[in-house]
Amino acid sequence: MLTILFLGDVVGEPGRDAVIARLPEWKREWGLDFAIVNGENAAAGRGITPKITIDLLRAGASVITSGDHIWDRKEILPFIDTEPRLLRPLNYPKGAPGAGTIVLETAKGKIGVINVQARTYMQPILENPFALLDLAVEEMRVQTPVIIVDAHGETTSEKIAIGRYLDGRVSAVLGTHTHVQTADEQIFPNGTAFLCDAGMCGPENSILGRTIEPVIGRFISNLPAMFPIAAGPVRLHGALLQIDETTGRALRITRVNEPGPAPAAAAS
Ligand SMILES: [Fe+2]
Repeated sequence: MLTILFLGDVVGEPGRDAVIARLPEWKREWGLDFAIVNGENAAAGRGITPKITIDLLRAGASVITSGDHIWDRKEILPFIDTEPRLLRPLNYPKGAPGAGTIVLETAKGKIGVINVQARTYMQPILENPFALLDLAVEEMRVQTPVIIVDAHGETTSEKIAIGRYLDGRVSAVLGTHTHVQTADEQIFPNGTAFLCDAGMCGPENSILGRTIEPVIGRFISNLPAMFPIAAGPVRLHGALLQIDETTGRALRITRVNEPGPAPAAAAS
């Protein structure tokens, strides 16, 4: 059996410090074979840098997924082709830097990861995710039945549709992007685990990881405003998966909603 951790959008320094602090502990305590982290908001809430990518990989992330904010830090454009464990959405046009899929060897066999971006209320509007998922899953299943999909999107309906569409063909479909964890974890009839949104790893007393007052102010005034990353206690959201490595079927999905490290540990 494979034990795989999936963590939702890591928001800014508080989120990434908490992931970097807790991931090594969880690897030991939970017996993780593999960890996937959505890192597209890890650099001050927008994008990811090469250094942050390396820091998250060193802390124990096996693969880092992303979404609509992948290119927000320009230095990621030349970097992404040098680090295949950092994925961008699969459904960019041909010729885009980086890749949307990876298969990695582990002690218990190969694990594939696919990162796809939904289209409803998302910018940019990328290629049809369903058609491209058909191709990517078919190609990947030649190598391994263990496939985890990060479906990065705004609407519950589109992410559920992607999950149902892939039921029986991949091990799990986990949604990201909204920063709000849903409570619909389940295993679909043909063996695919699903959670509509994994949530975020970021400041708890916030609006999607940002300081509360400027966001409320913007809704009231409609005037431009800066939205700094919030301070204070952090929560880490995601899902813990147990997968049969011989069939790729999900055996269990459990939501993760854990506190960050204690302040003293975070400062050390
Ligand atoms: Fe996003």
